[in-house]
Amino acid sequence: MRKVILAPSLLSADPLNIARDIEKIKGEYDWLHIDVMDGHFVPNLAYGPSLVSALKSRHDITSPIDVHLMVEPPENFIDLFLPLKVDYLTIQIESTPHAHRVLQCIRDGGAKCGLAINPGTPVEWVAPLLFLVDMILVMSVNPGFGGQEFIPQVLEKVEWLYRERTVNNLNFLIEMDGGLGLDNIQDVVRHGCDVVVAGNAVFGHEDPAQALKAMRNKIMEVFR
Ligand code: DX5
Ligand code: ZN
Repeated sequence: MRKVILAPSLLSADPLNIARDIEKIKGEYDWLHIDVMDGHFVPNLAYGPSLVSALKSRHDITSPIDVHLMVEPPENFIDLFLPLKVDYLTIQIESTPHAHRVLQCIRDGGAKCGLAINPGTPVEWVAPLLFLVDMILVMSVNPGFGGQEFIPQVLEKVEWLYRERTVNNLNFLIEMDGGLGLDNIQDVVRHGCDVVVAGNAVFGHEDPAQALKAMRNKIMEVFR
């Protein structure tokens, strides 16, 4: 059975009670997904290095920290996060003409590097970079906000990535982010997704741990 990683997005957590919300899902999540928004690349503002640093200082939070940069240009921001020893640092391909260089800098800085593509961006854009990345993040909504509706056409991108990875014997992870929940998680996993990000479906649920458990059960059914 393929391991599928569940990465709740803190964008949908209660901003006044983030630690409490993480405590609620203890033992049920694999990674924590942190969205960083600059009000320029995306029309919203969210989280920064101070939150990441606070999470890293907590001894009871040992799971990988997955930072998704929706900022332009990312080369001006990566040095805010690399010293914090984040596990994954993902940039958007549309946010810089120098994606290759930025990914290399992230690697050299000691983090795993990820590359995200928006729903309107052709997946083939990432082809020259597949050998370099640890993860491709397929956006299944237009980035900027939690709680948006899933765009099903992006599933074809996951299929393409899965095929490219197999044919070329590469080993990046395929992550998906936006509008994911119980209704579509099986489809997403069947298409080849390794990392499922979910904000609203987890923290918008009255029992976030139960929401993650239900997602995990749905995933198990796929492999049964
Ligand atoms: C959207 C963010 C997502 C967001 C997902 O721009 O990148 O990580 O938190 O939220 P949901 O799961 O509610 O669509
Ligand atoms: Zn995200």
